[in-house]
Amino acid sequence: MTDLVLPSETNPLNNLFGGELLARMDRAASIAARRHSRRIVVTASVNHVAFNRAVPLGSVVTVEAKVSRAFKSSMEVYLDVWIDDRESGQRTKANEAIYTFVAVDETGRPVAIPEIIPETEEEKLRYDGALRRKQLSLVLAGKMEPQDATELKALFES
Ligand SMILES: CC(C)(COP(=O)(O)OP(=O)(O)OC[C@H]1O[C@@H](n2cnc3c(N)ncnc32)[C@H](O)[C@@H]1OP(=O)(O)O)[C@@H](O)C(=O)NCCC(=O)NCCS
Repeated sequence: MTDLVLPSETNPLNNLFGGELLARMDRAASIAARRHSRRIVVTASVNHVAFNRAVPLGSVVTVEAKVSRAFKSSMEVYLDVWIDDRESGQRTKANEAIYTFVAVDETGRPVAIPEIIPETEEEKLRYDGALRRKQLSLVLAGKMEPQDATELKALFES
């Protein structure tokens, strides 16, 4: 999703307001999750956001969303945010984030979705880390006991 940063979307330093970027990322991620599952999708969790670089007023911002792993009904979606350099036309990475979406039926109940097969090195890396991020998110949300987060624990034990 590519769009401009307009004055109404900025903070007092004339940079993009964080909540505006979160909303743009949520929209892009929901499209990726919907295209993968071909279902209604809802945001279950925002797992990670890094506002590494400010995005100045007038910037052309591109939000790239990709499903990095599909579980039973939930999907991890990776977001990469890029800014166009006006003179060179090159894109610079500004921010990244990880969201979790759940595919649901018309009554809002989770439904099964197809799996993802990662192909590139980056896709494989993100796919491999997704289970421990899911476990961390569930532990933080109080939906999983820490002792059951086997993949997450293995990270500290190896
Ligand atoms: C997201 C939602 C559908 C999950 O429903 P639930 O009753 O908790 O369902 P389950 O426990 O069966 O979980 C469904 C899946 O979501 C995952 N999930 C739930 N909460 C999660 C969290 N905080 N982090 C990561 N994954 C989560 C579960 O692990 C499960 O994944 P799996 O099926 O791939 O193994 C439900 O909480 C909901 O509708 N929330 C509101 C969503 C919404 O309105 N979003 C917009 C906010 S304004």
